[in-house]
Amino acid sequence: MLLNDPVRMNAYRSAIQRTVHAGNVVLDVGSGSGILALFACQAGAARVYCVELGPIIEVARQLAAVNGFGDRIRFLREDALRVELPEKVDVIQSELIGKSALGEAMSEILDHCRDRFLKTDGRMLPGEVTLRIAPVESSAAWAKSRLPDPSAYDLNFAPMQHLSDNLTTSQFIPSDSLLASGQIAYSYRAIGADNRDVFDALLEFRPSRSGVLHGFVAWFSAELAEGVTLTNAPPGISSWDHNFFPLPTPVPVESKSSIQLRLSARSDTKFAEAWNWRTVVEQDQAKIAQFEQSSFRGSLNLQEQVRKTLRAKRS
Ligand SMILES: C[S@@+](CC[C@H](N)C(=O)[O-])C[C@H]1O[C@@H](n2cnc3c(N)ncnc32)[C@H](O)[C@@H]1O
Repeated sequence: MLLNDPVRMNAYRSAIQRTVHAGNVVLDVGSGSGILALFACQAGAARVYCVELGPIIEVARQLAAVNGFGDRIRFLREDALRVELPEKVDVIQSELIGKSALGEAMSEILDHCRDRFLKTDGRMLPGEVTLRIAPVESSAAWAKSRLPDPSAYDLNFAPMQHLSDNLTTSQFIPSDSLLASGQIAYSYRAIGADNRDVFDALLEFRPSRSGVLHGFVAWFSAELAEGVTLTNAPPGISSWDHNFFPLPTPVPVESKSSIQLRLSARSDTKFAEAWNWRTVVEQDQAKIAQFEQSSFRGSLNLQEQVRKTLRAKRS
């Protein structure tokens, strides 16, 4: 439960105390239970607008009342991409951070709110979110992403092989399984940037030791305020595990190997989360492995959704 993760809660509370000043007007985007709005009131906010799509907003209203902040928080059950506010705000705060930064249409929603509602000298929390990815040696993580051994049930799973080869899995990856430091594949900057929930990054890793490459792990780092960073870097924290990107076949690597990864992704309100990862491993300048994988190929639901959208566009 998000409220029961002290790492997340303390980081947000401390960042809000540094960012929200007495008398400020605050917009809380995707407010859920309204916990960040309560923190903003504790920090001295004069008014907080809580915008939330879901029915949890009724519970948030009750929480505000029993904590004595009912008169300072306005609750709007609306889409943040459509909501209207009666005034501009000093601070926009949110927690729309996916386990690998993408996944909750953060850029699309927050750029929209910033451009519509933030005062020219206003502040945003988080200020920056990055996605890092690193090569991983973990036979345990890799085994969890595979189909069962046919001999275990005396069944043949071959028709599902292409699905399992192209699925990312949610797992906690231990820090000692990283074969190299993480590199930045995507960045969101709240102020002064046009952000998109899409990217295409080309990275090269040199392993820090010999081992077996089983796949990659991605995580986020969010700068909530100056000096306050929240991250699910391996081994992760209770609110966020990791996306593990498996290879179809493990590849032995050495410190002089070159692991080249082209990672691209898209996840906004028009398109469900989709990842592509293309891996090339070279040893002594000779290619020893190459794979091209895509969560689009691994998700029949996503394929059907795209077919429906294309059909609707044509008719
Ligand atoms: C991860 S929860 C965070 C809740 C709360 N801010 C917290 O920190 O505990 C994200 C919330 O954003 C809401 N949300 C997502 N997209 C939204 C949108 N376009 N407009 C309003 N709310 C949205 C979801 O319904 C969900 O309650």
